[in-house]
Amino acid sequence: MDSQKTAPRPLPDFKPPAEPLEIPAYLHDTYWWAYEHPKAPGFWDHGFMINFILLGNYNRLVRAVLEEFPDGISGDMLQVSCAYGRLTPSLEEALTEGGHLDVIDILPTQLDTVRKKLKHVDDKVRLIQCDATALNCPDNSYDHVLMFFLPHEVPEKERRMAMSEAIRVTKPGGRIIFVEFTNPGFHPFRLYERLVFLLFEPFAVDMWRHELTYWFPEGHNCITLNHETYFGHFFQKLVVQKPSDSH
Ligand SMILES: C[S@@+](CC[C@H](N)C(=O)[O-])C[C@H]1O[C@@H](n2cnc3c(N)ncnc32)[C@H](O)[C@@H]1O
Repeated sequence: MDSQKTAPRPLPDFKPPAEPLEIPAYLHDTYWWAYEHPKAPGFWDHGFMINFILLGNYNRLVRAVLEEFPDGISGDMLQVSCAYGRLTPSLEEALTEGGHLDVIDILPTQLDTVRKKLKHVDDKVRLIQCDATALNCPDNSYDHVLMFFLPHEVPEKERRMAMSEAIRVTKPGGRIIFVEFTNPGFHPFRLYERLVFLLFEPFAVDMWRHELTYWFPEGHNCITLNHETYFGHFFQKLVVQKPSDSH
């Protein structure tokens, strides 16, 4: 009888920070109330709150991510920054036998909030403190990379760096999935959202000005596999593939 087991696949070589990371000024100054304040998760991390912020579209947008994995998530996946709600637990549930998920965030509070919702931390899912603009892992590490509403929250320079890093760590032929705001045109909620951006999310209006690929690094050569919009062109999902022949 063949009792040999196949050796476990080595996980991406993601190194935790050698010393505590500095919280970026934009995050501390602009979003302290949303993510950094110790009471922020208790206040915001409820289905109705997130649905309110996303105008009733939260579940639909999480589903939009999962639809990219009709057979479950296999291989290695990276979620670049935490999100409130059920996104990460849903990704965990969608992992196949050999599937693995790494979640990074710069704020330990956010990682702790996600940790409480997961069943397989340190086994099928790793939570790692890291800055999205400087991912501490080798090139070509992941089969799938997800950015769920991160680009609109960071200033242009950091957005470009984070996107460049996401592409760098994706394996050739792997996919990067973005879920974000997009220019809603003459949408009934346009003025409302513009006011929200003015008051609370100063970098988000950039999402109305450019396609997400505008912030990709020069010569990226990524191929668009899927681009869909939701809620009357208010939100978008963009799925790109890193060329198989890239290094
Ligand atoms: C993904 S975004 C927004 C998600 C969405 N608003 C929600 O919570 O459903 C929020 C997260 O991004 C994290 N973040 C912001 N800048 C970051 C950076 N440079 N590196 C890693 N995480 C970052 C914040 O700490 C926060 O946890």
